[in-house]
Amino acid sequence: MSVRIAVLASGRGSNLQAILDAIAAGTLDADVVGVFSDRANAAALDKVPAARRWAASPRDFADRDAFDAALGDAIAAAAPDWIVCAGYMRILGEALVRRFAGRMINIHPSLLPKHRGLHTHARALESGDREHGASVHVVVPELDAGTVIAQARVPVRAGDTPPLLAARVLEREHPLLVATLRLLAQGRVDERQGTVRLDGQGPFTPLQLDSRDELR
Ligand code: GRF
Repeated sequence: MSVRIAVLASGRGSNLQAILDAIAAGTLDADVVGVFSDRANAAALDKVPAARRWAASPRDFADRDAFDAALGDAIAAAAPDWIVCAGYMRILGEALVRRFAGRMINIHPSLLPKHRGLHTHARALESGDREHGASVHVVVPELDAGTVIAQARVPVRAGDTPPLLAARVLEREHPLLVATLRLLAQGRVDERQGTVRLDGQGPFTPLQLDSRDELR
């Protein structure tokens, strides 16, 4: 049976598109049961039928907890197995994270634990990093601090700017997210205490995406 995936997105949704493309191509046995956004005009929303969209503005709620509760109820109503934050730009409150503990992952554009938070590409350049990339990690209440399941690495090149580097990373984010979801959907990943096991092997800290878009 295909796994049910909910996607949280605030923007263009290219990672969501990668998931949808993989499902359409038959390389990911999943169903995107809902797309949830804090921005009604997020392009990501347009990628799924209207019945599978949910969007609300945090400004229409009394506080973060009230917004998160409404978001959480909408997610729960879609009954997802996995919740994927893919360019969701709002911090998730602790109650929401705990509600879906162990079932929520995020794709972050850096080689965590380096560069948590925003502006990761500029910060990688400022730090003189020779390597940069993206990480898929388990969501915990502390920002970008959960166990990293898998990463994709790219070189930093002379003359790089934040947009150039962002584009190079994004190209690897898509196969990284799809490959990670495939393993999770197949129940092949076991995550505990900061390490990951694949098919009972490991621990890996974390899995790495190879040039053939496979994780090992
Ligand atoms: C990606 O770089 C993701 O890692 C970050 O936000 C961006 C979202 O891009 N969290 P998209 O909306 O999936 O195109």
